[in-house]
Amino acid sequence: MLNIAVLVSGGGTNLQAIIDSIAGGRISDTSIKVVISNNAGAYALERAKANGIDAVCVSPKSYENRELFNDALLAKIDEYHVDLIVLAGCLVNLPAKLVEKYDGRIINIHPSLIPSFCGRGFYGLKVHEAALERGVKVTGATVHFVDAGIDTGRIILQKPVMVEQNDTPQVLQKRVMEQAEWVILPQAIDMIAKGEVKLGKQS
Ligand code: GRF
Repeated sequence: MLNIAVLVSGGGTNLQAIIDSIAGGRISDTSIKVVISNNAGAYALERAKANGIDAVCVSPKSYENRELFNDALLAKIDEYHVDLIVLAGCLVNLPAKLVEKYDGRIINIHPSLIPSFCGRGFYGLKVHEAALERGVKVTGATVHFVDAGIDTGRIILQKPVMVEQNDTPQVLQKRVMEQAEWVILPQAIDMIAKGEVKLGKQS
């Protein structure tokens, strides 16, 4: 059994795709132990509760400084003894200590074909704004391991999505989610659960 923690910040549609894929058998032998948000108002927490999953908020606002928040986040994750941490729309800059401790056991979904439109400042709608501004005809999404850099870890899966004429960032974001993110994030977790992608230190 692959035990996972899902870290979120917002609406949680990627979390929902994971929940639905486990229920529908498209992800095998996997259990979501906890959903953790940095944002108390994240709808993702409601999705977790509605599915009987522990839903926890660890907010920087509740701590005097970043270090105390970092320690609290790490302690909360440790509490659940998970095999894998899935960042599903998580906007927190993960503490270095956490990335080190869970080296090769954290994956992220990014809404572009890395190495395009990734790195510092490329999150949410900004990614799609940049893609449209550059005039690319194909974009997509990437699931990758998380290392000390931003969006630099080993790539696990990518899926292309066509850009269409008159796309707005919002329209493109929705298409990338529907056609790519909600497909490859569950698929990557299933591959890990089946041992087709190995966890652990990336060398
Ligand atoms: C997705 O576009 C994801 O790629 C990005 O943030 C968004 C999260 O959406 N990192 P949701 O919270 O899963 O609905």
